[in-house]
Amino acid sequence: MGSDRALPVRRPSLLSWAPTVRHSYYERQAGGAGESVFWLAGSLGCVRPIHRRMKGLREISAPRWTEQLGVGSCRLVSGEGDVSPGVPAGARLPTCVASTDVERATVDIYERRGPEWASKRRLVRRADARRFAKRIPGGALRIDVGCGAGRYTGDLGSPVIGFDAAASMLGRCRTEVPGALLVQGDLEALPFGRGTLEAAWANMSYLHVPKVRLPVALADLHRMLTVGALLDVQVLGGDYEGDALPGDDVGGRFFASWRPDALVDIFVGAGFAVESCQVDREVVRIRATRLRTLPDVVGLRMSLLVVGLNPSLYAADAGVGFARPGNRFWPAARAAGLVSRDRDPLHALRHHALGMTDLVKRPTASASELSVREYADGLARVERMVRWLRPAALCMVGLAGWRAGVDRGARAGQQRRRWGGRPVYVMPSTSGANAHARFEELVEHLRAASDLAAAAARVDHRESGSAPAPE
Ligand SMILES: C[S@@+](CC[C@H](N)C(=O)[O-])C[C@H]1O[C@@H](n2cnc3c(N)ncnc32)[C@H](O)[C@@H]1O
Repeated sequence: MGSDRALPVRRPSLLSWAPTVRHSYYERQAGGAGESVFWLAGSLGCVRPIHRRMKGLREISAPRWTEQLGVGSCRLVSGEGDVSPGVPAGARLPTCVASTDVERATVDIYERRGPEWASKRRLVRRADARRFAKRIPGGALRIDVGCGAGRYTGDLGSPVIGFDAAASMLGRCRTEVPGALLVQGDLEALPFGRGTLEAAWANMSYLHVPKVRLPVALADLHRMLTVGALLDVQVLGGDYEGDALPGDDVGGRFFASWRPDALVDIFVGAGFAVESCQVDREVVRIRATRLRTLPDVVGLRMSLLVVGLNPSLYAADAGVGFARPGNRFWPAARAAGLVSRDRDPLHALRHHALGMTDLVKRPTASASELSVREYADGLARVERMVRWLRPAALCMVGLAGWRAGVDRGARAGQQRRRWGGRPVYVMPSTSGANAHARFEELVEHLRAASDLAAAAARVDHRESGSAPAPE
């Protein structure tokens, strides 16, 4: 499967996952004798379900998968050039399976040595996997993220998707779990529609994601899961990050290990209710459910971290902060030159170094329903995040949180107090219900917050000699 090694690098944005597929197609690729590898390409991003002899798909009808995965109406076919309506026969559509950032070296190691790795490992989590499966409603679609050779995929019940970046691992998984739908892709750019999967298990796969990229990876997982979906994630415990983990018998793989409290913070930030965080010798295991809320979209080298009060129910369901019609955040942010795309937090982070979070995760019809306690907890969480990721500056959108937790008499503008060691700008709510603030004023506030971030980045640069954050 030589073509599997050259994973293309285009990464779809969060919004490009919207369930409006124009076309999809399957193309038969050259496989071994009696084998077929099927590629699916669609404007949602692309998935490559790998099925040899199409065993699994006999059990579950293709329309069901395609509908549930949000990849539009397409047929699973086996004939060369047999494509879904609207796509010329033989057309080559771009595939975008991997993110630009996929830990290629690590995946290549699994590609070469993964099956050997799997055969040497003891199966210590089968009972766990079966207990997890028992809690998933019958018939609910579940996924094994970074399924590897499928050591636990079969224990998760069915219907199940085995998802991994390494084709050789999926090859092994196919033998182990013939009824699973196998998809090759990057867990940092999951190729499934919004709210399409009902449970996720990830044993020792997110440990290959650099720490500063885990929030966005989990935001993507949050997007893909239904509200209330169960999640079981296990990673390495500790402080190590790098590609020379002591005692790694395979060698060269990138690992990020986590302290439990820091990991819980990341999952809470990503919009999950953490039921338990268990530390067992060298591993940390999180059990959680997907909440109806927004995940943080944050990372390293943020210029401005925009901190909302809490998501509206509308925004939580849309998966985009300030999405409610009438909210002026996005138009004002565009007018102020902070972002170039409407309602696209991932684009804002990647291209404008603008991160987004909320003080309180609980969505409400109105921010007046939030308590002082919720604001205080939220401010403490944001402070920890700021100390870790060090955005140039913070912009609190809505005065209520800062007033409730920090300064009762605060007015809009730059604040005397810093937060997590970074300067803070507080501005009025952009909600359409806030009739006091005119659009032009909101634009001015966002410009001033952006100027504050730029000035702070220059100071950092002078003090440390490091490159300033991109503006
Ligand atoms: C330590 S193995 C665990 C496999 C399996 N969960 C198990 O418990 O046997 C990690 C797996 O994650 C996969 N992986 C690593 N980085 C990935 C990425 N960015 N996207 C998808 N899978 C990835 C590897 O190919 C490998 O199969």
